[in-house]
Amino acid sequence: MSTPIIDFINSYRSGDVAELHMPGHKGTPLIGAEPLDITEIKGADALFEAYGIIGQSEKNMSSAYGSALTVYSTEGSSLSVKAMLACVRDYFGATFRIAAGRSCHRAFINGCILLDIDPVWIYPSEPAPGLCTSTITPEDVELTLSQHPEVNAVYITSPDYYGDMADISAIAEVCHRRGALLIVDNAHGAYLKFASPDIHPITLGADICCDSAHKTLPTLTGASMVHISKSAPEALCRSIREEMSLFASTSPSYVIMSSLDRTAHELTEGDLPQRIRECCDFVTKMKSWLSAKWYDIIGDEPMKLTVSALPLGYRGYELGGILRSCGVEPELCDDFCAVLMPSPYNSQEDLERVADVLLSVEGRKPKKLTPLRSHPKKVMTLREAYFSPHERIPVTDTLGRVLSRSVLSCQPSVPAALGGEKIDRESIKILKRYGFLEADVVK
Ligand SMILES: Cc1ncc(COP(=O)(O)O)c(C=O)c1O
Repeated sequence: MSTPIIDFINSYRSGDVAELHMPGHKGTPLIGAEPLDITEIKGADALFEAYGIIGQSEKNMSSAYGSALTVYSTEGSSLSVKAMLACVRDYFGATFRIAAGRSCHRAFINGCILLDIDPVWIYPSEPAPGLCTSTITPEDVELTLSQHPEVNAVYITSPDYYGDMADISAIAEVCHRRGALLIVDNAHGAYLKFASPDIHPITLGADICCDSAHKTLPTLTGASMVHISKSAPEALCRSIREEMSLFASTSPSYVIMSSLDRTAHELTEGDLPQRIRECCDFVTKMKSWLSAKWYDIIGDEPMKLTVSALPLGYRGYELGGILRSCGVEPELCDDFCAVLMPSPYNSQEDLERVADVLLSVEGRKPKKLTPLRSHPKKVMTLREAYFSPHERIPVTDTLGRVLSRSVLSCQPSVPAALGGEKIDRESIKILKRYGFLEADVVK
């Protein structure tokens, strides 16, 4: 196994070639990454027609994941999600109908707007504590598919930002029994293939999934992959590259592709799988130390550590403040919890510092925060609402108005309220809880 992309670039750059092509830096190390940054010169292949070095690197990655096909994205899972949607929509043509877990990333919402998709929302039977979690169960999927027999694709986000994981094998069984394909947003779970046991969505029966390699593997930000299962319709493999190019830049980053190339090598020939398992084992130990004190650990993802702050008498962001003051930068903190994302590239000292800080927090009177839920009435599709004339008004004045733009913040980019829905009292409470002061409503 080799690193075909990196090998090609190194050999090209070590030759005596006058570079009369893009990019303008000509490999001069101004910030350091330029030597790996080339364009589609002869021999460099092309991401959306990958038959050369990129295709070979993707094959290496595919063999690590056991997929029929793995394709790279250099624009994150934000691109991969849209490409998956276009690919499955193209496969079903006019009969395409998708059901999706309501707590999804904005990439899914944007894909629906751009592709004019009107999803049937799957609501979890249990109200979820935070915005970014609402694990969909096989029963929730079964119920939705029995109420909407026309649905032929199901879209699930698992793991979610908190590290909650859906029962993908049981959901895949429900979907396949009812003739639907299963699409999984596995942005947070690229490493799950190498956990023990292997709990990657493709292993568990998903037809197609995306992994943000950069979130948990040692790749550069922007590195993502789409995997298509060996049991999925072959047509998905034939169209995925074209569907990706529908939304992607025509100048994908060879620096990011090099980073995926290197990671494929580490996963197939290096000790990265072993290091991932060791990291998961240590995180499991940390979870047991913390829950032996009074922490509630949220989620079952093996390499993520999400601690609920409420039983300790804190809000998640207060816990975040304590962590920061002791030199630990968390991934996300909200009202409920603090989310920490260790990886094999953290040192043992890093992880011990996290455990020490959390274990030394003084407990206070436990806090309670009731989970809120709303099922507002949908009166327009996401696309109709998005392109309707709209105005920005205070959240407190939105009762009875139809949202034009979904309301979400950068992190976790999960909508608190969706475009096309009529705002009810419960939605206003949710918007206020997450600190939104204004919203765009249809005029
Ligand atoms: C669940 C989920 N899906 C998709 C994405 C988009 O991934 P990327 O940042 O790789 O574009 C994110 C990003 O945080 C996410 O949390």
